[in-house]
Amino acid sequence: MARRLLGGDPLAAVELFPLSHPWAYAHVQQAKHNTWFPEEVPLHDDVRDWHERLSDEERRAVEMFLGFFNPMESLVTTNLLLSLYRAVTAPEARLYLARQAWEEANHVMAFEYVIKTLPLDRERVFGLHVEHPAVAAKELFQRQLAEQWLVTPDVESVEGLQRLVRNLVGYFVILEGIFFYSGFALALAFRQRNLLRGLCTIVDWVLKDESLHLSFGIHLITTILEEHPEIMSAAFGRQLRELILRAVELEEAYNRAVLPEPLIGLDADVLNRYVRYIADRRLEELGLPIAFGEPNPLRWMVAQVDMPEIVNFFEARNIHYEVGRARW
Ligand SMILES: [Fe+2]
Ligand SMILES: [Fe+2]
Repeated sequence: MARRLLGGDPLAAVELFPLSHPWAYAHVQQAKHNTWFPEEVPLHDDVRDWHERLSDEERRAVEMFLGFFNPMESLVTTNLLLSLYRAVTAPEARLYLARQAWEEANHVMAFEYVIKTLPLDRERVFGLHVEHPAVAAKELFQRQLAEQWLVTPDVESVEGLQRLVRNLVGYFVILEGIFFYSGFALALAFRQRNLLRGLCTIVDWVLKDESLHLSFGIHLITTILEEHPEIMSAAFGRQLRELILRAVELEEAYNRAVLPEPLIGLDADVLNRYVRYIADRRLEELGLPIAFGEPNPLRWMVAQVDMPEIVNFFEARNIHYEVGRARW
């Protein structure tokens, strides 16, 4: 009998084969090839750029980038371990969650390495997520989605499953798939000006991991919707869409705070058009109607963020963008 994706015995011993959800194991295999360590990237040139080539405004933008990413990496880990690991019981899916938790810890260490090496004003960077209203608003949005499921974990009722799916959309699709992508675009714009190339290599590697997390999350969500068609309704689809549109508003306000003036060839308007373009892609991936119809204003990001090709070797076909689409 196929193992349940959700709500099996949480203490059962791992018996991986036969796989009940081969897409999850395909993600584990892919993730193994993305193993890296922050100290592999030399930051000497970044230290020179930081002190000699960046303006005060550019340094502030880097601090804002790290000030959001660093606490969010730990919040993602907390949500994985305290919420999702309780709910998701298929062994191959748990294996991926454990791998992802390691990757998130690696991201924390990577940003620590940058903060320590440049060096950045640690207190200011770590204070931002509490003190800056645009950063704090995004964190509150994420915390509420984690809290709702932490307080009442439930994979049996329609309401419980819907709360879980909202959490998954909030973390995999919004945080990792929209907020982080917007941050990556800001960071990688420095490399477009030949600045902070070491930090941008780290961002490339983090982005590769995050693309896989996003892909896993989309598979997880669509599989839950397929296995529990009772939670799918037009009203629930609208709720998820509204969650994503609220996140776009938060990200737009954040980007206006990060870029009050144009910097490194980027202004808040262009970056926000990119956010709307990305949000439409995420809506599509969930099988929901797009909201903006915005063309990609950052063509150079295309090469950076292509979703990884996940080959489902069990069925010898590419499952990229071929997950069962939710129908609302
Ligand atoms: Fe991460
Ligand atoms: Fe992630």
